[in-house]
Amino acid sequence: MRHIISPTDLTISELDELLNLAEDIIKDPKKYSKVCQGKKLATLFYEPSTRTRLSFEAAMLNLGGSILGFSSADSSSVAKGESVADTIRVISSYADICAIRHPKEGAPLVAALHSSIPVINAGDGGHNHPTQTFTDLLTIKNLKGRFENLTVGFCGDLKFGRTVHSLIGALSRYKNVKFILISPEELKVPTYIKEEILDVNNIPYEEVRSLEKAIPNLDILYMTRVQKERFFNEEDYIRLKDTYILNTRKMSLAKKDMLVLHPLPRVNEIAVEVDDDPRAVYFKQAEFGVYARMALIITLLGYKEGRPLC
Ligand code: CP
Repeated sequence: MRHIISPTDLTISELDELLNLAEDIIKDPKKYSKVCQGKKLATLFYEPSTRTRLSFEAAMLNLGGSILGFSSADSSSVAKGESVADTIRVISSYADICAIRHPKEGAPLVAALHSSIPVINAGDGGHNHPTQTFTDLLTIKNLKGRFENLTVGFCGDLKFGRTVHSLIGALSRYKNVKFILISPEELKVPTYIKEEILDVNNIPYEEVRSLEKAIPNLDILYMTRVQKERFFNEEDYIRLKDTYILNTRKMSLAKKDMLVLHPLPRVNEIAVEVDDDPRAVYFKQAEFGVYARMALIITLLGYKEGRPLC
């Protein structure tokens, strides 16, 4: 039994298999429409979500399985003080696999330690968001065709943005990847990411303030929302929230084949006028999230081509 707590819980070859499987699902979804018949996915969401929870649920339904769960801590016995450990012990006897989102870093790991079913981290605080990373990688593989030799710019809230932390970790395993980290001083990538991922792997990176100056050099621009819910003080959020707004003028400075990704939800950081630019692929990226999660669910449930799930 495997759990997915961090994107690097899969080796590069396992990740390749997962992405190839996701691309096969995109080509022929009907082939997979009954693979999870009789299986149940529990979605335990202690924090708000639109894409992650609903794409997990759509994924399981597309595979012929069923879903159960809760979409806020208030609507579960957590409101009465139940621990994550006790909750997952109980859920283990109700479902075959579970996805958990929690505001506290490390909560999905605690769940995994007390679970007898595979646990998938669907986002823990400002830490990791591995299934968003699989979605981002599938988007890059499908639309860019490679992970190597890319200059990837991350822009916005690089301090609290867990999707940024996870994607930096995953892309750092490929050759000739360079990062341009675009943020205000207060929202820089945490030191542990620089020391434990970038420095250890000799990954070249620059920390800059100006999106205009950085954009001409990028193959991928990964925009992020300033994470209001993780700020201690509203004044700081208001001061920083509109630091970057990607608009058509800034897009005119970018390469013709640069891709703009964003995990969504968007607030103000990408002007709606950019949506019509063919390089803006964030809605396609959200669609790919279903296929990435379908591939992950069946992989963790033991799918092998031509054989039923165990
Ligand atoms: N990208 C993402 O995690 O979106 P949700 O918060 O809507 O799940």
